Amino acid sequence: MDHLLGIDHLDIDEITQVLDRAQHYAAALKKGEWDKERLKNKIILTLFYENSTRTLTSFDIAAKRLGADVVVWHPKISSVHKNESFSDTIDTLAEMEPDAIVIRHSEFGAPGFVAGRVRCPVINGGDSWREHPTQAFLDALTMIQEKKTLEGLNVAICGDIAHSRVANSNMLLLDKMGAQVNIIAPESLMPDKLPIGSAKKFTSLEDGIKGCDVVMMLRIQKERMESSLIPDMAAYHNEFGLTHEKLKHAKSDAIVMHPGPMNRGVEIDDDVADDPKRSMIKRQVANGIPARMAVLDLLVGD
Ligand code: NCD
Repeated sequence: MDHLLGIDHLDIDEITQVLDRAQHYAAALKKGEWDKERLKNKIILTLFYENSTRTLTSFDIAAKRLGADVVVWHPKISSVHKNESFSDTIDTLAEMEPDAIVIRHSEFGAPGFVAGRVRCPVINGGDSWREHPTQAFLDALTMIQEKKTLEGLNVAICGDIAHSRVANSNMLLLDKMGAQVNIIAPESLMPDKLPIGSAKKFTSLEDGIKGCDVVMMLRIQKERMESSLIPDMAAYHNEFGLTHEKLKHAKSDAIVMHPGPMNRGVEIDDDVADDPKRSMIKRQVANGIPARMAVLDLLVGD
């Protein structure tokens, strides 16, 4: 792997390599024993054109846990506000020779564009509604920890599929690794074409999660849609909000996931989100560190 632009480009061996390394780091972090100088003298540049709490912070911490230095570039205090173009910004930063760039951008395919202009590995921290590969890795790590393997797992993904890079990257990874994916969304948020042919589409939450091992809920991405797509949030919650009552349709030991940030009371109820046995939401956040350590190690480590 030269870059991590999306799950789409990866084969089963590459995905397995990242997940094995992520499991290694998850165990090592627990024991406090890993190579803390693995990325010593490396500089990781983060370029986040969109807001982020989990992804930006966990890349920062993951890089520092491996001994790298992190430079956080921020659009708000950059020359973007002096009308510098995106390509000039990238070319300028490339001249400073960072050892890797992590980018989040609202434009479809922006990380690939950057990869074509710089001399270091580029990692996609989320682009438009297209891909968010490190989220798919940390989600897969969480599923493996709880369910042992992805092969044969039944995973339901429910919510704003049309605007979700998390759903796209998860579908691609799960399909490649032999899981069965059910996609649940109201008609207005269900894309005509999904990135994998094997996913089953549902417009009822109860039907879609029936017999599932994993129920992944997604945020309604108000910033990406016309308000008319979901005119009534209370009605959406009634039909598509995950409650303990609705969760009974999944397997009795099904786990609940959500990439965050959550709209509590819209796509998920408080008591499900905070259920210490069923909810993996905090674990997903924690797993962002070993998953991103794995990616940085494989792409930037000598
Ligand atoms: C997601 C994102 O930004 O793509 N969050 C995340 O990275 N954990 C999902 C979202 O914004 O809803």
